[in-house]
Amino acid sequence: MRIGVIMGGISSEREISLMTGREMMVHLDRGKYEVIGIDIESPGDLIGKVKGIDFALLALHGKYGEDGTVQAALESMGIPYSGSGVLSSGLCMDKNLSKRLLRAEGVSTPDWLYWNGMKDYDAEAVKERLGFPVFVKPNEGGSSVGTLPVASEEGLKEAVMEALRYDTSVVIEQYIEGQEITCSILGGELLPVLGIRSNRSAWFDYKAKYETGGAEEDVIALSADTEARVTAAALDSYRVLKCGVYARVDMMMREGIPYVLEVNTLPGMTRASLLPKSAQAAGISFGGLLDRIIELSLH
Ligand code: DAL
Ligand code: MG
Repeated sequence: MRIGVIMGGISSEREISLMTGREMMVHLDRGKYEVIGIDIESPGDLIGKVKGIDFALLALHGKYGEDGTVQAALESMGIPYSGSGVLSSGLCMDKNLSKRLLRAEGVSTPDWLYWNGMKDYDAEAVKERLGFPVFVKPNEGGSSVGTLPVASEEGLKEAVMEALRYDTSVVIEQYIEGQEITCSILGGELLPVLGIRSNRSAWFDYKAKYETGGAEEDVIALSADTEARVTAAALDSYRVLKCGVYARVDMMMREGIPYVLEVNTLPGMTRASLLPKSAQAAGISFGGLLDRIIELSLH
């Protein structure tokens, strides 16, 4: 089987995607697959570059990759690909829409405001509805690029303008002070839950995510009650947002209650990433994880 590892892309997470793709190429079993690395450098690039492959292993992150556009192009070319389908990919990329659906289905998510550009800027609404501190995030983004914590009204405008460099709309989200956890799901099953502790930053920012020693992520011991709540939140999020094959659900946990921040349909698979760590804790090697993703995606 000729496997194209589709990486790069044009989103703010291009560099991370290249790391994910390269790591996948290192671990794919060459006895089983013929492996072709494909770097996407512009939106139309994909069409010409995927000809002749039997399967697209997606290592893309962010817009034009994780958001359903590439998935739709591959569907129309009849090329099977890894992970969630078009609708789920689009939904999960849109923080506001996915949070609306999660809340409607009874999954806890931190309260938030959604602003479609600077015209919606309203510091009073933040004070009244959410209170400070908050997190300001591009609505469609990833790897914390353009995301900032804001402690008071003073820093709000600047943070919103920064987030708007990466997207046309932003989410202002209540800051849940607690333990960040991440739940990887493979084939509808929850892998061991990891707790995150940033070493260099007050929160799990870009540096903490990707620099060597930036954070510690270990399997976390949860009480039976908390574990049940976390498992339900993770699997409900996966189901509500129509994910398939695999995903990673990020949460903040306060007093044993999980609040879902977002669902990543193409979670990072760099050397520092969480999904491979979670799989490893379940006894699944990186290569074994890729085999399973490919298998599940083809069925
Ligand atoms: N968006 C990054 C790649 C992640 O979720 O791991
Ligand atoms: Mg993300």
